Amino acid sequence: MTSHRFSSLGPLTGSIRVPGDKSISHRSLMFAGLALGRSRITGLLEGEDVLATAAAMRQFGAQIAREANGSWVVDGVGVGSLLEPQQALDMGNSGTSTRLLMGLVAGHAISATFVGDASLSGRPMKRVIDPLVMMGASIEASAGGTLPLMLRGASPAVPITYRLPVASAQVKSAVLLAGLNTPGITRVIEPIPTRDHTERMLTGFGAKLEVGTENGETVIAIHGEADLKPMDVTVPGDPSSAAFFMVAASIVPGSDLTIMNVGLNPTRAGLLHVLRQMGADITEVNPREVGGEPVADLRVRHATLKGIDVDPAIAPAMIDEFPVLFVASALASGTTRTTGLEELRVKESDRLATMAAALTLAGARVEEHEDGLIIHGTGGEPLSGTTEGANVATRLDHRIAMSMAVAGLVSRGGVSVDDISPINTSFPTFMGLLEEAAR
Ligand code: S3P
Repeated sequence: MTSHRFSSLGPLTGSIRVPGDKSISHRSLMFAGLALGRSRITGLLEGEDVLATAAAMRQFGAQIAREANGSWVVDGVGVGSLLEPQQALDMGNSGTSTRLLMGLVAGHAISATFVGDASLSGRPMKRVIDPLVMMGASIEASAGGTLPLMLRGASPAVPITYRLPVASAQVKSAVLLAGLNTPGITRVIEPIPTRDHTERMLTGFGAKLEVGTENGETVIAIHGEADLKPMDVTVPGDPSSAAFFMVAASIVPGSDLTIMNVGLNPTRAGLLHVLRQMGADITEVNPREVGGEPVADLRVRHATLKGIDVDPAIAPAMIDEFPVLFVASALASGTTRTTGLEELRVKESDRLATMAAALTLAGARVEEHEDGLIIHGTGGEPLSGTTEGANVATRLDHRIAMSMAVAGLVSRGGVSVDDISPINTSFPTFMGLLEEAAR
């Protein structure tokens, strides 16, 4: 545990570059590791979660190396040729690694044991276990359907049509990855759209994948026993990491910060819309495409934010950004109401409870409800901050630590966070960039 006190630093100015997108980084290692031949990945996020995926793919037989210039070279094993891991796969804090790789193992004639840290070991895996068992995998999980668990894949697995009971890109991706080595066509019906990186990237790697609509719902079909061909991937900057700086520059007076190379895939860009609705001053500079994804530089200037009712329909497009949106709301004028956020209770921590407690400790006025928070903003006045000796509990959740760091910037007395080490799971350069922007 490494505690840290975040205090006001002055306006955020200049330009910064956030690291590569976490979702795309995981998938680039997985798909390159499944292609036959050599792929090269530029801009890979070198956070602990992604490194857990790299270590697992190595156990499956892929060769993965980092070059001196920072790009990663992957020699894949081929779909259908995964080796059985010799040791338990240590997924650390990473739900994405766990759920997607469970899907991958499910379609191969191998067994694997998945273990993780205390946070990950409390997170629900039944949502992936259910469809994977339907496809023929056998799974022994801990009581409550959690890690540690042992998964025995099926080969051949059985193609299914699966309608997602929760809006989850991880569950969708797990079924599609299981479908990669399954004869026939595996279908996922998605009533509520979630991030579509798996669909875009698998198509890029040469899989036959069709996306259509039936009765207003998205249907994704993957043709099994796919052959993936290697490709070069450029990973755009992570909008979920940019989010902390978008909010920080919006609420710290005098700020004028440009965040370079931010991915703006519509399934990820919800925070930008919501902040603009609240009155944020964010302009998209030099819109372009990077690695098949829309990208722009974001120029963010301080603005007076006002509280709003956040439309629950936008939640999947900003599911990881609510903790920091709560901080923006705490500084807005008036009340912000969020609803439909039950999924936040099963992230790296229960993000409704953890953020309600953290913001309250820092002096904000917060009401916690079953499916969202109601936050009465200060109208731009700084928060009081945490009192001497009172630490915000981050509960092994990187996004809580970074959100409360942003809260510290707009507090009178500073905000103490009990543990900043989880930041390394997704955004190892966060502390340095914060100092750089506020210098
Ligand atoms: C992710 C999907 C989301 C998100 C997570 C990354 C992905 O999880 O919260 O950080 O890369 O597919 P859910 O699928 O559980 O919503």
